[in-house]
Amino acid sequence: MNKRTLAPGLLFFLSACAGKSLPEPAATFTEQVNRGMALYVEHCSSCHGADGKGTDQAPAVVGPTALPLDPPAGAQVRNVQFRTAFDVFQWVRVNMPGDAAGSLEDQEYVEVLAFDLKANGVELESPLDGENAKTVVLHP
Ligand code: HEC
Repeated sequence: MNKRTLAPGLLFFLSACAGKSLPEPAATFTEQVNRGMALYVEHCSSCHGADGKGTDQAPAVVGPTALPLDPPAGAQVRNVQFRTAFDVFQWVRVNMPGDAAGSLEDQEYVEVLAFDLKANGVELESPLDGENAKTVVLHP
């Protein structure tokens, strides 16, 4: 092993020792959406459906009836309104995935939310974050 291959190898070893390492925050909304898609498939689609339109296990998160202001009829967990994307983020990061609540990193919740917003027709000029999520108004 020469010096050139040693340095990246050592860095990888050190970051692996530091525990779960997240990628740098996405630079664009589109990059968030792409990462969020993979996270959705891995952590959410089993209950909410591959297309997000819901299953007998969980309500839709994509489509005209998705993310209603008030909890859907029969909701057992949600007890808050979804007025803005920030409200959805706050609730989802504590309560989802239904079988492993809170198990993702905040950055991952933001990415999966970016994917969900995009699937519902929302476009953003800059990456989604805790500030601009409050300006994404789902229900005026
Ligand atoms: C094990 C099944 C399961 C998985 C996996 C899961 N969910 Fe859910 N999700 C549910 C159930 C059940 C509800 C309804 C909760 C209630 O009764 O209020 C729900 C509700 C929601 C809601 C609110 C819908 C509404 O209209 O009230 C959102 C948003 C949501 N989930 C997002 C996600 C995201 C994002 C992921 C992946 C990170 C995920 N869920 C993974 C089962 C699941």
